Amino acid sequence: MLRLSGRGGAGLRAAIALAESSPGLRIALISKVYPMRSHTCAAEGGAAGVIKSDDSLEHHFNDTVGGGDWLCDQDAVDYLVQQAPRELIQLEHWGCPWSREPNGSVAVRPFGGMKKQRTWFAADKSGFHILHTLFQTSLQFPSIQRFDEYYATDLLVDDGRCQGLTAIEMRSGQMRHFHARAVIVAGGGAGRMFPFTTNGAIKTGDGMALAYRAGVPLKDMEFVQYHPTGLPSTGTLLTEACRGEGGVLLNKNGRRFLQDYGMGPETPLGKPVFKTMELGPRDRVSQAFWHEQKKGNTVPTQWGEAMLLDMRHLGEKTINERLPLVRDVSISYMGVDPVTDAVPVRPVVHYMMGGIHTDIRAATPLAGLFAAGECACVSINGANRLGSNSLTELLVFGRRAAMSAVGYLECGRGAGNDGALGALADAAQARIRALIQRSGGKESVAGLRKEMMQTMEQHAGIYRTGEGLAEACGKLADLRRRYAAIELHDRTNVYNTDLLQALELGSMLDCAEAVAVSALARKESRGAHQRLDFPERDDKNFLRHSLAAFNPSAPPRVDYRDVVITKSQPGVRDYSGGHQ
Ligand code: FUM
Repeated sequence: MLRLSGRGGAGLRAAIALAESSPGLRIALISKVYPMRSHTCAAEGGAAGVIKSDDSLEHHFNDTVGGGDWLCDQDAVDYLVQQAPRELIQLEHWGCPWSREPNGSVAVRPFGGMKKQRTWFAADKSGFHILHTLFQTSLQFPSIQRFDEYYATDLLVDDGRCQGLTAIEMRSGQMRHFHARAVIVAGGGAGRMFPFTTNGAIKTGDGMALAYRAGVPLKDMEFVQYHPTGLPSTGTLLTEACRGEGGVLLNKNGRRFLQDYGMGPETPLGKPVFKTMELGPRDRVSQAFWHEQKKGNTVPTQWGEAMLLDMRHLGEKTINERLPLVRDVSISYMGVDPVTDAVPVRPVVHYMMGGIHTDIRAATPLAGLFAAGECACVSINGANRLGSNSLTELLVFGRRAAMSAVGYLECGRGAGNDGALGALADAAQARIRALIQRSGGKESVAGLRKEMMQTMEQHAGIYRTGEGLAEACGKLADLRRRYAAIELHDRTNVYNTDLLQALELGSMLDCAEAVAVSALARKESRGAHQRLDFPERDDKNFLRHSLAAFNPSAPPRVDYRDVVITKSQPGVRDYSGGHQ
C-alpha cells in the first residue's frame, strides 16, 4: 500500500504514474477536499515547456535559474526543463484542451521573466483543464482508491521510516489509520497565513507541517512570492497572461512606471508585445509597486492602494478568447469591465518557493517519505519562481516522486511493526480528542489567526527589516504558546469545521514561524526576500539554502546547505532588454 496525502495536480500525477508503473500496488489518495476543489484548479495562465523552434532547453534553464536569483538547484532545473515538454504532450494525449495557433499547433504565450514564449495555456483556465484531465485519467485505474474529505493529522514514523499516516474522516469525525510502505505528500502551499492572497481557503500548509513535525526540515521558507496583479477587493488572481497578451501596468499618472525600475524601455501598445517591461519577474514588479506607493503614485481604492492594469487596447474579441475568466472575475468582484476600463490591482501573496526539503528525486531525508508540488522544495524556484513553472513542476516532480517511491518499495523494506504503529496512531487520536474536549481555554481560533495574519502582513511582506522580523518571531512564538489554550465551540463529530480550522491554524503557525525565523537569519536581499537593512545580495555568505528544523517548544533551528551549481555561475539579473 502506498499513501498520497493531498490530491491536487501533483498528487493526481503521482497516483497515475504509480498505477501505470506498478499495477499491483494499492494506492490511497487522501485529501481534505474533493479533487476538483483542490487549488490547482485556480491556476490560470499556463505551464512552461519548450516547444517552439526559436526556444531551447538552455533558454528555459537560464530564465529559471536567473529568475530564481541563482538559488535554484541547477540539476533539478535541468531535469524540469528536459521533462517539461514530455509532460505537457502527455497531458494533450490524455485530453487537455490546450489553446491552438490558427495552423493547429499548440499555442504558447509570453510570461514574466521568460525571454522566449513557452507557456502552454488553455485560455485562462489552464489549471482547471489540467486538473480535469488528471482527475479523469486517474479514474481509469482501479488500484487508486480515494479518500475524499479526510484531514491528515500525523505521519506514522517508526524504525526510522515513514509507514503511513492518521487522518480524520470529516464526514464522521472518525480517526482512520493508514499503514503504508511509503507516503507522498502533495498538500499544496501555505499562503493563507497572510491576510491578502490569491490562495484558496484550503491552502493552510498542512502538508508542510506534517513533514516538518515528523523531523523533515522546511527549506527556503523565507521566500514568499507576491503576484503583482491580484484584485484589491478579494485578492483574486488576474493572471500574468493579462500582461503576456499585452496588458500594461499604469500608476495614477497613467505612466507605465516599470520603465523606471530597470525593466526595459517603453514599447508600443498592441500585439505582439514581447518587448515589454510588464513581463518582468514577479519579485521585481511587486517591489516596483511598493516604491510607487511610497512615492504617492498609486491609485486609492476602497480596499487600499492599487495600480491599474490596462487591457482595453487588446479589444473585446481577444479578451473574450484569451482572458474570459479575467473579464468575468473583474466584473463580478470589482464591477470593472476590462474591455472598457483599466482594472485596479495590487501585489498579493501567491506562492511559497520554500517547502519540504527534498532531493532531486523528490525524496525527503525521512526514509519512505516523498513530497511534490508547492508543498515541496526540490528546489527549482530558488528565490523567485517564474510564472508558469509551477504547473510544470507539479507534473514533472509528481511523476518523479512516484518513480522514486516505486524504487524505494522495490528495495523491499519489510512490513512495519503493527503494535508500534498502532500506539502512534492512538497517541495522535488522543491529541485530537483532547483538543475537542478542552474547556476553560481563553483563546479562539479566529482571534489567533487574525493576529498571525496581521503579523505576517506587517513584517514578512515585500520588504522586510531585522527589527520587524524579530518582532514577528517573538509574536509567532507567543501565538504558538497561546495556541495550546484554544477552546473549540463545536464538540460534535460530523463535519466539525471548528476542529478543522483549529488544526489548520496549527499548521499555519508552524509554517509562519519557519518563514519569519528563516527570514531574520538571511541577512541579504535576494529574489522575493528583500531586507531594507541588508539591500544587497550576498553570495559569499548566503548562496545557500536555509533549512528550518521543527522544535515543538521553541523556535526552529536554521541550518544551511549549499546550492547545486552545475553550469550557471551567479550573475546580474538583467531584464532591461525585454522579451524576444
Ligand atoms: O498569473 C498566473 O497565471 C499564475 C501562474 C503561476 O503562478 O504559475
